[in-house]
Amino acid sequence: MDLNELLSEEGRVDPPALYARLHRAGAAVAVDGGARGFAVAVHGFEAVAQVLKDGRFHQLDAAYLDLHTPQWRRHPALRVLRDSMFFTDGPAHDRVRQMIGRVFTARRVARLEHAVTGLTHRLLDRMDELSADGPVEFMGEFAYLLPSSVMAELLGVPQNDLAWFRPRVLAIGAILELDGATWRNMARADTAARELTAYFTELVALRRAEPRDDLISLLAAEDLSEDALIGNLITTFNAGFVTTTHLLGNGLTMLLERPELAASLSGENVASYVEEMLRFEPPVQILVRYAPEDAEIEGVPVPAGQAVLAMVGAANRDPARFADPDTFDPGRADAGSLSFGFGPHYCMGAALSRLEGQVAFPALLARFPKLALVEPSGGAPKPLILRGHDTLAVACHGG
Ligand code: HEM
Repeated sequence: MDLNELLSEEGRVDPPALYARLHRAGAAVAVDGGARGFAVAVHGFEAVAQVLKDGRFHQLDAAYLDLHTPQWRRHPALRVLRDSMFFTDGPAHDRVRQMIGRVFTARRVARLEHAVTGLTHRLLDRMDELSADGPVEFMGEFAYLLPSSVMAELLGVPQNDLAWFRPRVLAIGAILELDGATWRNMARADTAARELTAYFTELVALRRAEPRDDLISLLAAEDLSEDALIGNLITTFNAGFVTTTHLLGNGLTMLLERPELAASLSGENVASYVEEMLRFEPPVQILVRYAPEDAEIEGVPVPAGQAVLAMVGAANRDPARFADPDTFDPGRADAGSLSFGFGPHYCMGAALSRLEGQVAFPALLARFPKLALVEPSGGAPKPLILRGHDTLAVACHGG
């Protein structure tokens, strides 16, 4: 596969067209010329799951950066990410994951349902008010605010600080894109990481002095180094809403482009709608791993130190796994996807983001039965790793 094809404007507009071609070539293909350190693209459903659970493939950890970006420690953004469980494997990863699992429990998520419902209705009231002046920008007014407010509630971040967070979180997200680590993006992400580190350091000190029933207070009391504590708080906070923001934006687009599906969505079937939205247009389309030792996947060699693109978006449309994969069908018998990852790094927030989608979509359609997109959503190139709209104008009471 020529990586430039994926990174081209066409590739970014319609990745499923490329995914369909890839599926005709088996489950994994060599990336031409080992461009940008990526040796192999894996796109078959079973093969992607295999890469994600296989101990031979690691996250792009400190050892990987030592190999490819020896100056990486000078970049606060890269240090913050590497101090988190996202970019750690083995026993060190298991230990932090268990620690977070002890405080981020199913009971705590269930207790958030009330907050999710209350926030949703407050945001809908505000959209209604704003709609008096014309179209409403759904991403900023709803899709970002719901998950970030929920994460703020969970972690114990003051709600008034959320507007300050958004540009900083986006700056860190930008360097995760396949070709995103440009000099300019890196400089912005470093500034954001410095500011977020200072912010969370201060908040941790406050919670240590006066603990509350929130994740920051609970984690601050665990046996974690200060760097790992701050790194995990920043990355978990980020992970919790950029992704769910895109689930809400991508999901709403699908509903509004298919009025017959919107009409049949109800409180009873919304869970299968959300699963199908996640399969069809996953907020994270590609995960990346590397092989510390020579390895192979599906017969394609991965030389030591080279990276593998685990193409979740393609796996979700594998015809060997899903009947008629390019059809959006919330009633499908073969539901399920790799959108929350698989194996040891499986998403810790899957239940929370499902809950948010299951509350938000029926409430949106019930409040605004004539909700419509102002312009067709297709046609604009979008990022490949964290895939969603920057902005999405909607007419709350019909166009
Ligand atoms: C629709 C929304 C979401 C999507 C699509 C999503 C997707 C993912 C994926 C694909 C991974 C695996 C990363 C990898 O294997 O490299 C992951 C990991 C993770 N997610 Fe999510 N996520 C979502 C929401 C959330 C929320 C709401 C939270 C927090 C409350 C969260 C916290 C995490 C954490 C902590 C991990 C890292 C687990 C580890 O490294 O062991 N995510 N997520």
